[in-house]
Amino acid sequence: MGDLVPAPWGGYLVTGYDACNQVLRGRTWLVPDFAWQERQTDSERWHAVATQEMSGTLSRLNAPDHTRQRHSLGNLFDRQTIQAMAPHIEADVAGLLDRLAERIRVDGEADLAAVVSERLPINTVGRWLDIAPEDYAHILEMTHNQVHAQELLPTKSQLAISEAATLQLRRYFNGLVRERRDNPGDDVISGWIRTWDALESDREATDRIIYQLTMFVTIASLETTATLLSSLVWSLLRSPGSWDWLRARPEHIDDAIEEALRYDPPIRLNSRVAGADTVLSGVLVPKDTMVHVMYGAANHDPRRNPDPHTFDILRKGSHIAFGGGAHYCLGAGLARLEARTLLGQLLERFPTLRAVSPPEYAPRMVFHRVTSLRVAA
Ligand code: HEM
Repeated sequence: MGDLVPAPWGGYLVTGYDACNQVLRGRTWLVPDFAWQERQTDSERWHAVATQEMSGTLSRLNAPDHTRQRHSLGNLFDRQTIQAMAPHIEADVAGLLDRLAERIRVDGEADLAAVVSERLPINTVGRWLDIAPEDYAHILEMTHNQVHAQELLPTKSQLAISEAATLQLRRYFNGLVRERRDNPGDDVISGWIRTWDALESDREATDRIIYQLTMFVTIASLETTATLLSSLVWSLLRSPGSWDWLRARPEHIDDAIEEALRYDPPIRLNSRVAGADTVLSGVLVPKDTMVHVMYGAANHDPRRNPDPHTFDILRKGSHIAFGGGAHYCLGAGLARLEARTLLGQLLERFPTLRAVSPPEYAPRMVFHRVTSLRVAA
């Protein structure tokens, strides 16, 4: 249909790989921030509590605020941090797979999504941020409900669900920041507080930023990684011979992960607005027009990845599953580590793993979510 397809509700869908990259990396393209939202007439959507709350977070900031916050975080998952986290993730995966094995032994099958994929990301991020494990279930529930507001065209009822979750998240993460401020330690959140106390004299403003960072990093990391883990396993199990092939060649585990990210990216779409009149793929896009970067369509652009609908571990293709440019995902290294660890152990311990039925998905467009993947061995 072309690189740029007019959306029925206004603006454009950007489907070509190069055009998507141009939007993600180009200086004239901005994320739809508060200032842009204020100029919109659809106040139900843009002025909804859940939308407004997300608008204060990293993903909805433009320079200079965005640059300042990114700079304060640095490289969240540098080599040293990843090395320190790896043994914990190994042990965690081993424990989760014990549980999977037990369920399969007792019931003949188990839900990989519920037992493993949903648990690993919250265990990992929870440990990293030093959050009490008894809070994990509550955080998962709030996250599942919050992301509705980030859908392409959220309905009234989705916005209401999202608003309730947003208020709970606000209470929870503000409480967490207060607790760290009162009892600082050598944990990540206390470190952010120290960094921002040195940058800002206004304590209230600092705590608001720490809340936004902590809340956003947590929700950005959970559904995305969980979906990658399930869809990675499903992609292998559905294509005959792939499980055995990879078991015999574990050196290609990373290639399988990249191909799963390309083939089935956990986030399907992200929006930008034109900061000035801009020509994109030969079309004049007027200032303030919203365009939707379609990650999945871009990854399946045959000009970039020939025969795109074939899952090919050895393809060495390109993908933009983690976005690109100034907002490139800060957790890509961690998500890859979790996927690598899980797949390595699964292949070793479950040589005859098979899917009982295809996965079930939440009825969503932006945050793809696998709600169930029943497996047996
Ligand atoms: C498979 C798992 C993941 C996928 C597919 C994913 C994907 C993305 C995408 C598409 C973006 C937007 C990039 C853009 O606007 O150009 C993003 C941003 C972000 N991600 Fe991830 N993500 C994943 C895991 C994680 C994890 C584990 C963390 C943290 C622990 C994380 C933290 C973030 C943050 C903080 C941003 C905002 C960056 C910014 O706006 O400057 N993500 N991610």
